[in-house]
Amino acid sequence: MNKVDPVVTTADLDTDFSVLPELAEHVFTAPLQRPDHVNEDWLEPSQYDYSSEDHRIWDDLFARQSQLLPGRAASAFMAGLEKLDLGKGGVPEFGRMSEELDKLTGWTVVPVPMLIPDHVFFWHLANRRFPAGNFIRTRETFEYIQEPDVFHDVFGHVPMLTDPTFADYMQEYGKAGWKAMRYNRLKALGALYWYTVEFGLIQEGDDLRAYGAGILSGPTEVVYAVEANSPNRIMLNVDRVMRTDYVISDLQPTYFVIESFEDLFRQTVERDFDHLYKNLSASFTYANSAVIDVDYVVNRGTQEYHLRGGRGSGAKPV
Ligand SMILES: [Fe+2]
Repeated sequence: MNKVDPVVTTADLDTDFSVLPELAEHVFTAPLQRPDHVNEDWLEPSQYDYSSEDHRIWDDLFARQSQLLPGRAASAFMAGLEKLDLGKGGVPEFGRMSEELDKLTGWTVVPVPMLIPDHVFFWHLANRRFPAGNFIRTRETFEYIQEPDVFHDVFGHVPMLTDPTFADYMQEYGKAGWKAMRYNRLKALGALYWYTVEFGLIQEGDDLRAYGAGILSGPTEVVYAVEANSPNRIMLNVDRVMRTDYVISDLQPTYFVIESFEDLFRQTVERDFDHLYKNLSASFTYANSAVIDVDYVVNRGTQEYHLRGGRGSGAKPV
């Protein structure tokens, strides 16, 4: 008999997320060594004790991004930034910020080590807790840092959690993570996170604006994603996006655009992914610069930046 993927039963999907669910035997997760000072929930006992230089780095990053965001960041992001008042001076205190956020959408922000296992990350999201890295970048890595630091996690992600529909989407994403793990389709669901939560664009009237944290927390991509001629911009189609490759080390060759957060919610959460997972080959992906015949293309990029060599080549992000 051929070996088939484990079939998910209705009973499996009725998961109780109030406690960390048991991982089934067949589910693969990357082995991460849990530091001695954290429990199974991987929560740090308290937020990092930042130096005055750390706080100045936050302020400088905040000032730089704030200049670039008007006209480029989604209205929901700008509204969230204002509601939470993250530019008060220094790295925000998670407790106070969580109180404000909790009043708005029932979310809190919790400190974790730099990397936590997927299933723990999903479990926190399913409980409306956003795990945020504690450390902040240094002056040496001020311009570009690949690992998400507290500036990326808090400045980039938390403002969007003040939007009720997006906040619900993030919780459902956490639940969907457990389902994807059971089907061994985490890479596909990861692509959805990548092209929405990290690098999503939204149509606002005649303009495109960014709502993805990966775009909004860096100085280059916030301009490139919205204005450059190189990248493709394609309307989000969930089946297509979940088959699309992504690289984490450079600007994106393609961005996916949503009409609204309600539309994002409809296309994902209200869709049953069982059928999609069953029909998704584990190894096949579209190249991240490809435009395919099902695409509704907003604009087809020149790909000049990547054709000239991308990051490290001196190519301009045009
Ligand atoms: Fe992120």
